[in-house]
Amino acid sequence: MTSSLEIRTLTTPQELFEAAAEEVVQAATQAVAERGRFTIALSGGSTPRGLFTLLAANARSVLPWAQMFFFWGDERHVPPDDPDSNYRMANESLLAKIPVAAANVFRIPAENPDAAAAAQDYEQTLQKFFQLRPGEFPRFDLILLGIGPDGHTASLFPESAGLSEKSRLVIANWVEKFKTSRITFTLPVLNAARSVAFLASGTDKAPALRAILEDESAPGERYPAKLVRPNEGKLTWFLDRAAASQLSPAA
Ligand code: 6PG
Repeated sequence: MTSSLEIRTLTTPQELFEAAAEEVVQAATQAVAERGRFTIALSGGSTPRGLFTLLAANARSVLPWAQMFFFWGDERHVPPDDPDSNYRMANESLLAKIPVAAANVFRIPAENPDAAAAAQDYEQTLQKFFQLRPGEFPRFDLILLGIGPDGHTASLFPESAGLSEKSRLVIANWVEKFKTSRITFTLPVLNAARSVAFLASGTDKAPALRAILEDESAPGERYPAKLVRPNEGKLTWFLDRAAASQLSPAA
């Protein structure tokens, strides 16, 4: 498989959620048919909540829940019941509402006061689940990502040290603007996926999207989402009209 890039601009956030839900259903159906299981990494933020809510409401009959394995691409350094927890958001909007076994859900143990230890622990969880040999990266069927207005994705923030990581799967990345570490997949993991889907909604994302998708001179270190380009996989951007408002009409 070669790499591919598609930018899909939908009119409203609701249409964006519907298109992304369709992508999840298609990727899951195909993965289960071909390999007997579907591995997905979820993201935090407000945009995926709309997708999760839709999946929970409509997809009960069409998704192969028993063969679906849920992971997270990043987590805030908080316990799972904290209002900021990405796990908590996904659990409330999706996992608690679908017939998924607890054994199919792999959350990041971010309640560990030592963020680096939590990252190490999750890296081992990935190595075990995907049966990786040293130096190998997991090949997720689908990684969902968002972007911040500053161009960050997962918890890979502009100019942060974690951007240069080449061998680890999961790291604790210091985020200077929030004065905290966050636990995040590294770029090699994002770029090893079969498919990556970015969801971006709202005008506050428009300048970063222009820099990421159309401005060749904008550096990746400044806009980390630009560094996500699956080596042998599919990259799809799901945007609403507001997020796409600074892109040229052809995009
Ligand atoms: C997080 C994320 C983060 C998020 C973006 C977009 O934990 O905050 O995983 O990378 O995806 O900040 O967030 P919104 O969807 O809220 O704009």
